[in-house]
Amino acid sequence: MTKACAPGKIILLGEHAVVYGRPALAVPVRQVQACARIEPAGDGAPGGVLLVSAGTALHAWLDELPAEHPLAAICRATLAALATREFAPLRLSIESTIPVASGLGSSAAVSVAVARALNQHFDGSLRDGDISDLAYEVERIHHGTPSGIDNTVVSFDRPVLFQRGERPVPLAIGGTFTFLIADTGIAAPTAEAVGLVRQRWSADPARLEAAFDEIAAIVLDGRRALQDGDHHALGQAMRRNHGALVGLGVSSVELDRLVQAAEASGALGAKMSGGGMGGHMIALVGAPERDAVAASLNAAGAASLLRSEVGP
Ligand code: PMV
Repeated sequence: MTKACAPGKIILLGEHAVVYGRPALAVPVRQVQACARIEPAGDGAPGGVLLVSAGTALHAWLDELPAEHPLAAICRATLAALATREFAPLRLSIESTIPVASGLGSSAAVSVAVARALNQHFDGSLRDGDISDLAYEVERIHHGTPSGIDNTVVSFDRPVLFQRGERPVPLAIGGTFTFLIADTGIAAPTAEAVGLVRQRWSADPARLEAAFDEIAAIVLDGRRALQDGDHHALGQAMRRNHGALVGLGVSSVELDRLVQAAEASGALGAKMSGGGMGGHMIALVGAPERDAVAASLNAAGAASLLRSEVGP
């Protein structure tokens, strides 16, 4: 039996603008994960892969699934990259605790877990960067025009500064930062939010490009704050970034309510995270305010709450 897992992720700063070539910061969230397990299938033809996912009620042989099926696509791409020869039939099962369509990188984590498990099973030589590239191709099926940030942070499993077309830069972190991650409980496919921003960009490219430049400046301030261990500066960057995302039209009443509840109860900063229009928000909290902010998020309707730490 072979098993491999991949973490969820949050975008600290820079979502949406990152699709248009600006930098963004993302960190893994290891409290949630997707795992893939490979075992002998028992029956089936040589070279067959039985894909099983309880979460999506999938139980099908790989060769029965269409090219655009995300799980089939990551399996086929990884098997091709590994140049596998004929093998005894396999059962590949997927389990995930990452909520879908909510900004925690569920689709990228599933792809990375599957690619890692196949790589281990076949004693392959795929490295994190290769696995990230394979997962990126599947993100394109989900999102149309992904920036590549999700597959990158999930594959490398460390905080990164990401910019399209550039090597991801591992982030130096000068202190311990605690985030509360609250779910609005509203599933919102990233493709819809990305499509909305695309429409707005087409209607008024100059305004949107200026907003993306503003977000890029916030991201660089946030990077410095992380490096310096400066909690107040990071909180301020998060607040400014949320304002810019509201301006892009990708926040929602529920996200804004949670952001306001976090800030009113003492969070250093809060913002939506990921595609938006639902999904998750994040709040940066110091130790003294942590419990009050958590209680306030629950009272404001958070469907679930995670705590995640980012440190040196
Ligand atoms: O997958 P999500 O919802 O965390 O969003 C990804 C971030 C976006 O910038 C909105 C899209 C992208 O491809 O970078």
